[in-house]
Amino acid sequence: MTSTGGSIVFVTVLLYLAIAAYSAGDVENPSPSDSKQRQANAAELDLGLQGRKWCMPKEDTSDKILQENIEFVCNNGIDCKPIQPGGPCYYPKNAWSHAQYAMNAYYSAKGRNSVDCDFNQTGFLSDSDLSM
Ligand SMILES: *[C@@H]1O[C@H](CO)[C@@H](O)[C@H](O)[C@H]1NC(C)=O
Repeated sequence: MTSTGGSIVFVTVLLYLAIAAYSAGDVENPSPSDSKQRQANAAELDLGLQGRKWCMPKEDTSDKILQENIEFVCNNGIDCKPIQPGGPCYYPKNAWSHAQYAMNAYYSAKGRNSVDCDFNQTGFLSDSDLSM
């Protein structure tokens, strides 16, 4: 086997393991840090396999609606610790950036279907992550 063939097999196995680990997280009750790591792994996989799209709040969305979207996400199975006090995405501390994190986390966790970025028509899919 050539070394290129070996690398491809290695990467394929890694992807398989990462996907298996991520799927397992849905049925168990993972610790917050495990589930956060799995979400990060899944997000990286998605970038490689499916092009780059981010779910973002529309520009004219009020803070009140942004807050409702955050609550909706955090009440629907998404780990919101990263945007809570002490979390790595707590700063900048404003509804916009917290909603940006939450809405994209929800969209990504639900399988990156555009319907999961609707948020009562306050979300849209962007080709770039404007927070970076
Ligand atoms: C959309 O609006 C409905 C009715 O007001 C509300 O119950 C629901 O939580 C909203 N969804 C989101 C994602 O904010």
